[in-house]
Amino acid sequence: MSLSTRPQIVQAQGSPSSRILATGHVRGSRVVSNEEMCTMIDSTPEWIEQRTGIKERRWATEEETPRSMAVEAGRKALAKLGLSGSDVDAVICATVSHHRPSPSLATYVAHDLGAFTAAAFDTNAACAGFCYSLNLADAMIRNGSAATVLVIGVEKLSEMINIADRGTAFLFSDGAGAAVVGRSESVGVGPAVWGTASDQVETIEIEDWSQVAGHPEQNHPLIAMDGRAVYKWAMTTVTAKAAEAIEKAGITPADLDVFIPHQANDRITDALLRHLKLPESVTVCHDIADMGNTSAASIPIAIDRMLERGQAHSGDLALIIGFGAGLVYAGQVIVLP
Ligand SMILES: CC(C)(COP(=O)(O)OP(=O)(O)OC[C@H]1O[C@@H](n2cnc3c(N)ncnc32)[C@H](O)[C@@H]1OP(=O)(O)O)[C@@H](O)C(=O)NCCC(=O)NCCS
Repeated sequence: MSLSTRPQIVQAQGSPSSRILATGHVRGSRVVSNEEMCTMIDSTPEWIEQRTGIKERRWATEEETPRSMAVEAGRKALAKLGLSGSDVDAVICATVSHHRPSPSLATYVAHDLGAFTAAAFDTNAACAGFCYSLNLADAMIRNGSAATVLVIGVEKLSEMINIADRGTAFLFSDGAGAAVVGRSESVGVGPAVWGTASDQVETIEIEDWSQVAGHPEQNHPLIAMDGRAVYKWAMTTVTAKAAEAIEKAGITPADLDVFIPHQANDRITDALLRHLKLPESVTVCHDIADMGNTSAASIPIAIDRMLERGQAHSGDLALIIGFGAGLVYAGQVIVLP
């Protein structure tokens, strides 16, 4: 059969654009202050706050699992639209905290939400996980393979803290942030700028289970990080990529209303702000102060909390950018729900 007589495959027709329609979040219920943290590590509350901007963090209880937190955040986001799980075509969980290799966390979450036939899978792009997944959701909606996608960033990092490492133990926290992404006539998710600096792949790592097996007192793989290297990389690569995301969206920094970088460290946020020369009119997210660093969950949690507190508003143009282990990054300009 010649090529011209072969049956032609039909391409699905998607929506011209997508946007985040609603968000929801949940935070670990145990408040852990810097004072309490300093009963566990050799540090001072002042040192931690001055180096990171963190005053307190949220740790999940034993009952609060990545699955339960993801489901709660997802349910809250769907409820704002009067939707339920059965309205969802795909569930994507961005996480490094799901310790079962298979099936994915997203399949459990889809089950619990009643999204019984939805496509479901996890992404592992560490602290860039939400932005990576939002890029996928946007593409899925535009290529017609889904109309409504639930993207959930969820982490329970308190289980993976190396309490013997006073250089990292105070950073990490637990929670989930969900976004319902759906069809839109106008562009609500700008082009993603994403990639890796894989020459620095060992800068932040979580152990594998074979390493845990050698330490019977340890229940989970632990996080190890060269904090200084992350900081230096963020100052160069992440700042450049953030600027590129603004440019690719076809706007200027003065057009932005809100800047919501991954809540890794307030000093990194401040430096990004200086490098990007964002005008003072841009509201900058400092959710880390009473939340700590929740990796893939930090951006959706921050979006939802800023909207709740009136620090950001529906229709605002926001620059989001995630960065972390890999080293990976992804950022885009979005319209807030
Ligand atoms: C983690 C971070 C706050 C540490 O700050 P830093 O200034 O780089 O700290 P260093 O590890 O270089 O240590 C500096 C000094 O503080 C000390 N120190 C480290 N942790 C400390 C703590 N918890 N309390 C008090 N002193 C501490 C070190 O021993 C060192 O002392 P020395 O100079 O006498 O040797 C910083 O590297 C950082 O913010 N990195 C980015 C990490 C990040 O955001 N990761 C998330 C990415 S997703």
